[in-house]
Amino acid sequence: QTQLDLAVIPGDGIGPEVTAEALKVLHRALEGSGLEVKETHYSLGAQHWLETGETLSDGTLADIRGRDAILFGAVGAAPGDARIPSGILEREVLLKLRFSLDHCVNLRPSTLYAGVPSPLAAPGTIDFVVVREGTEGPYTGNGGALRVGTPHEIATEVSVNTAYGVERVVRDAFRRATTRRNKVTLVHKHNVLVHAGHLWKRTVEAVAAEFPGVEHDYLHVDAATIFLVTDPSRFDVIVTDNLFGDILTDLAGAVTGGIGLAASGNINLDGTAPSMFEPVHGSAPDIAGQQKADPTAAILSAALLLENIGQAEAAARIQSAVRSDVESRAQAGTRTTAQIGDAIATRL
Ligand code: NAD
Ligand code: IPM
Ligand code: MN
Repeated sequence: QTQLDLAVIPGDGIGPEVTAEALKVLHRALEGSGLEVKETHYSLGAQHWLETGETLSDGTLADIRGRDAILFGAVGAAPGDARIPSGILEREVLLKLRFSLDHCVNLRPSTLYAGVPSPLAAPGTIDFVVVREGTEGPYTGNGGALRVGTPHEIATEVSVNTAYGVERVVRDAFRRATTRRNKVTLVHKHNVLVHAGHLWKRTVEAVAAEFPGVEHDYLHVDAATIFLVTDPSRFDVIVTDNLFGDILTDLAGAVTGGIGLAASGNINLDGTAPSMFEPVHGSAPDIAGQQKADPTAAILSAALLLENIGQAEAAARIQSAVRSDVESRAQAGTRTTAQIGDAIATRL
């Protein structure tokens, strides 16, 4: 491979600010590798919608599908922006990409780096990864509303869980555990959500039989939030559904020193479409356009991208540059988004 054909979707709010730093670091990390990066930028998000009435057209989606990988910033309007229907960009851009490109594994690593203050009094060692299902659960848009606006309104959101979808994600979690500390924790709520919960539980038990070296346990999601705060060291690989995974990974970001450090990859496991890499955080309208955002999550997402396309060495160099940058943050004072990007690029 001599060229990386990269789709770039900076998006809204702080998306473009953090994506610029991720690209800066990605280019620097690949210098001398012989891999040339060809970027195609797509202007998707609030402005594009206001100008064209389009979220993500099928033509643009087909174009993106032909690239090798996608670097994504964030989409989402500011709360109270009456011109943009709530959630339309999130569903019709971000979720459409994840669903159409079969991003079944939403991979969200969580590490507490040395020198990073955690809000926990005794955080211990935190190093786990959440394998969040990415294309099913309550995210599929199934459900509906009857008698809207009346006292008799009925609203349903149906969670879709298929044996195929659950199994591939669970197997991926066990496979990842073998490269880590050999432990998988299923998080669900099978005491109440019996149909989906038991499918997940049975699937974990069946797949576990193929991985005798990997131990597995189970937590209800409410208890999992307790242990993420009181004993996060117990986790190695957490496997869970789309919605629980969304909630747990913001919490995981918070306990490891902030959402500005949390990276993610939306992985297409069978190589039928490009995978997509993005920070866990959103467009952060409250700090957008002020160079206040921490670009580290976007930069670490670029490292996950490089790992995914077989550039493990460049990825590891980014990760260690980030590690040494965050270690010295207490002395670095307040820096702009671009200054943090520059500092990490310089350490490569
Ligand atoms: P958010 O993650 O954008 O922001 C939550 C809080 O974290 C805010 O106070 C914000 O300032 C802070 N924050 C986020 N990223 C930061 C960074 N890199 N550095 C420093 N501080 C950071 O979540 P929200 O406020 O719930 O959502 C804002 C918009 O983004 C909404 O429209 C939402 O739907 C959308 N959203 C998009 C994505 C995505 O595109 N992947 C993800 C989450 C939310
Ligand atoms: C995330 C976001 C998205 C999600 C939203 C914006 C659709 O919160 O990437 O975590 O819920 O997956
Ligand atoms: Mn989220």
